[in-house]
Amino acid sequence: MMRTEQARPIRLEDYRPPDWRVETVELDVSLHPTATKVRATLKMSPNGETVPAPIVLEGDGLTLTSLKLDGSELHPDAYVATPDSLTIAQPPAGTCYLQIDTLLDPSANTQLMGLYRSSGTYCTQCEAEGFRRITYFPDRPDVMAVYTTRIEAEKSEAPILLANGNPVRAGDIPGTTRHFAEWHDPFPKPSYLFALVGGNLACVEDNFVTMSGRDIVLRIYVEPGKEDRCAWAMDSLKRCMRWDEEAFGREYDLDIFMIVAVNDFNMGAMENKGLNIFNDKYVLASPETATDTDFASIEAIIAHEYFHNWTGDRITCRDWFQLCLKEGLTVFRDQEFTSDQRSRPVKRISDVRLLRAHQFVEDAGPLAHPVRPREYREINNFYTATVYEKGAEVVRMLKTLLGPSGFRKGMDLYFERHDGEAATVDQFIQCFADASGIDLTQFMLWYSQAGTPEVVVTGSYDPAAQTYRLDVAQAVPPTPGQPVKEAMVIPLAVGLIGPDGRDMSLAFNDGRPVVRGVLTLNQPAQSFTFVGVPHRPVLSLNRGFSAPIKVTANLSADDLKFIAAHDSDPFNRWQAVQSLANTLLTDNVAAIRGGGTPHDDEELIAALAALLNDPALEPAFVALMLTMPSEADIARDIGRDVDPDAILAARTRLRTTIGARLGPALRETYRRLQEDGPYSPDAASAGRRALKNACLDLLAAAGVSAIALAARQYHQATNMTDRIAALTTLSHYGVPERQAAIDDFYRRYAADPLIIDKWLSLQAAIPEPATLERVRALTAHPAFSLANPNRVRALIGAFAQSNQTQFNRADGAGYAFLAETVLALDPKNPQVASRLSTAFRSWRALEPVRRAQAETALRHIAAEPKLSRDVNDIVSRSLDGG
Ligand code: BES
Ligand code: ZN
Repeated sequence: MMRTEQARPIRLEDYRPPDWRVETVELDVSLHPTATKVRATLKMSPNGETVPAPIVLEGDGLTLTSLKLDGSELHPDAYVATPDSLTIAQPPAGTCYLQIDTLLDPSANTQLMGLYRSSGTYCTQCEAEGFRRITYFPDRPDVMAVYTTRIEAEKSEAPILLANGNPVRAGDIPGTTRHFAEWHDPFPKPSYLFALVGGNLACVEDNFVTMSGRDIVLRIYVEPGKEDRCAWAMDSLKRCMRWDEEAFGREYDLDIFMIVAVNDFNMGAMENKGLNIFNDKYVLASPETATDTDFASIEAIIAHEYFHNWTGDRITCRDWFQLCLKEGLTVFRDQEFTSDQRSRPVKRISDVRLLRAHQFVEDAGPLAHPVRPREYREINNFYTATVYEKGAEVVRMLKTLLGPSGFRKGMDLYFERHDGEAATVDQFIQCFADASGIDLTQFMLWYSQAGTPEVVVTGSYDPAAQTYRLDVAQAVPPTPGQPVKEAMVIPLAVGLIGPDGRDMSLAFNDGRPVVRGVLTLNQPAQSFTFVGVPHRPVLSLNRGFSAPIKVTANLSADDLKFIAAHDSDPFNRWQAVQSLANTLLTDNVAAIRGGGTPHDDEELIAALAALLNDPALEPAFVALMLTMPSEADIARDIGRDVDPDAILAARTRLRTTIGARLGPALRETYRRLQEDGPYSPDAASAGRRALKNACLDLLAAAGVSAIALAARQYHQATNMTDRIAALTTLSHYGVPERQAAIDDFYRRYAADPLIIDKWLSLQAAIPEPATLERVRALTAHPAFSLANPNRVRALIGAFAQSNQTQFNRADGAGYAFLAETVLALDPKNPQVASRLSTAFRSWRALEPVRRAQAETALRHIAAEPKLSRDVNDIVSRSLDGG
């Protein structure tokens, strides 16, 4: 049953504690492909009231087969059961036991929420509101209970039976072909963390000894035959377990930690207590099948879900408005893990690129919302870049403001004070205020005000007084529902670079020290004066991207070149090159649209040449330096009246120029970085491959001889990173080698869906008019299926998100195709359909012809009477807001 009604929005201010608590849950699940029986026995107690409130439990498409209260069948007049709720108007005054039987059809569950089957494996996904698709329950995160789960199934169909917690007992059911397993999770948890799995799965086992000497069994379950692709995931798991002990003092708590990989999964992975369930894309890897990027994502996502054990599971969220409490904080933790395991500057640059590409865009459009939203119609639509990525930035700013030890004290207090509870953002922040003595009232605006703050800085040097003054103004633009904003607390890390390229020491004129090089902005306008500045310095602003803001300053092109060459902050060296490129690209887009002549920037070329020839720089960093702003980056920078064709033309021209002008150095670097040893996924090796392949791509932009180089690399590659990089480069040129390689790739990997996803994505991203027809044709290819989220994202998602010119075709055919796909998918899987529909979120920034076409497509979706709540919410906000 589809929830098509336009439900009233849920509001933060309406929060009330639950009327009833659930102390224990006993679940008895008898698995069957189309008729699974679930018996839930809930021990319930009234929450404080003397006159007991009615018991109201949530359901979603449920069929009730029996209901008992304290052991006796309830009279039909004593309750009301619909597919979506179960109400007992006059429950007993004290603790009672409710026994609820429901009947489910996991094979018919195409939403992939609740209990469903993925290639025959039974599995569950309960976050955010999926538990109510299994049984009637107060399905809200502040109801925390202790779960015992008994699962029963045909031995042949599901030899492996898993649930949260520790195994209790297992055995055959005499006289039948069935067996059972029982699991007990001693840690109280909200229903969204419940999980069970049943299927024919292979297992890779290892162990981990915790800091207090406890021995933990680690298991990864995968499709039989894929065991040899689990080594990296297991290695990542052990490293992140150690890291959480060292960096946060957090030890694992159960005796066993399990990860299950499934083929059909709406998201990346899920942190169910002791039983994480993963999209197989983020578990399986081997050098022949996975790229360096895949290896890095697996490491990060394994860590992210593991870190949730403390930030999410042990301490959970009081309500879904507090989602950033677990997600933003856990993203921050996984970012720090990656920074420590790999290269901190490279990780920071990559994260900021993602933040700007997703969160800044979200914040600038109709779907903008605060890190802690105040209302929602569909919670699934709030697992956003703002909650996750901006949420992580807010935690990072807290660390910048408090310093590493103040931050750690606050975290320790949070774990101590709220372990076992469902907490709020306010309680989290209070821990840092209490631990540091710093007032964080104004800081809370980061959680309530949407929009990206804009900071304007003017630096002026007074040679006579040897002072340097910064005049700083901040403003937050209006966002839907928030026309007027207050000044934020912004930690702005700054440096003054002397003529020798070294940092000058910083001292305020009032004698206060500049702690860790950070200025704290907290007014609409303010000034800072530094004394003892012997020479005119070059100003380095927002070092390490200390705040998620847009900064403009009176820096000349010469200043930027100087920063690119000398800043002690690697992030700002990268930022300076990006800023130079942005200026050039924006000018050239205007020139191309106005019929003028685009120009080159000799200084940018010179800066890049110097970086390419600097042996002291790590290759991964140089690769990022050589990567020019993407088409989407340029569009975001231009901000309005966007013409994707002109953007592609300007960007291509720049890349061609770089390829031609730096040809010999690029060729030499490409040659020097050839490696014939065995593949290793480590960050340094991956960085060398990234630089090599960046060189290849720029060389190809400049001319045909590199096409032969790419074709050769494609055929001779011994790992997936090099093979897919060569194929991606080739795919952008209409040369005969291209189709031959595309066909060859399919023949090689036809049996491996995760690799075929790469093949789908790469074809969807080709920036040429024939692509839409190619994508359409691929929807009919046997490798494609609308039922599998990975396939949909690989083909349709890639087309809408990474092909700016073809999705945004001036004739509107790209938009119409997306609308059609959203409408076809929505009845089956509203969550994935809803995510696809967010591709329209920047439609108002387009030039008028495309804007009108996009609006037509959005209105076409909106006109569908049976639209899911998920898609309806995104489409109506996209049309209203902004
Ligand atoms: N808790 C989420 C998974 C989730 C998201 C469940 C939305 C239900 C609805 C999980 O911890 C998560 O955040 N996963 C991310 C990957 C992570 C590395 C950011 C995902 O699935 O994309
Ligand atoms: Zn998460």
